[in-house]
Amino acid sequence: MVNWVKACDASNVGSGELYGFDYDDKKILLANLDGKIYATDRICTHAEADLSTGILSEEGIRCPLHLSVFNLENGKPQNPPAEESLKTYNVKIDKNEIYVEV
Ligand code: FES
Repeated sequence: MVNWVKACDASNVGSGELYGFDYDDKKILLANLDGKIYATDRICTHAEADLSTGILSEEGIRCPLHLSVFNLENGKPQNPPAEESLKTYNVKIDKNEIYVEV
């Protein structure tokens, strides 16, 4: 079943910024890369660092703890030590509000 939940206002995630929010037991990360919003799980698959304190670049989101970089399109780690992909979510923007399909 499709379930879109409001994450935040679009103004909360400016270009180059990260934003974390929780929905039920999910911890989700929003990332604005060059004006496009991506949503992934927020907890690193390696040792559970919070990626909202990571570094966003063209390569993706870099974990602040052991520096694996995850692709924002598919969640795949680009380098060790992380091996498992992050879950990714569909995103839509409606009336300047960001929604994530959970
Ligand atoms: Fe993220 Fe180790 S906790 S790479």
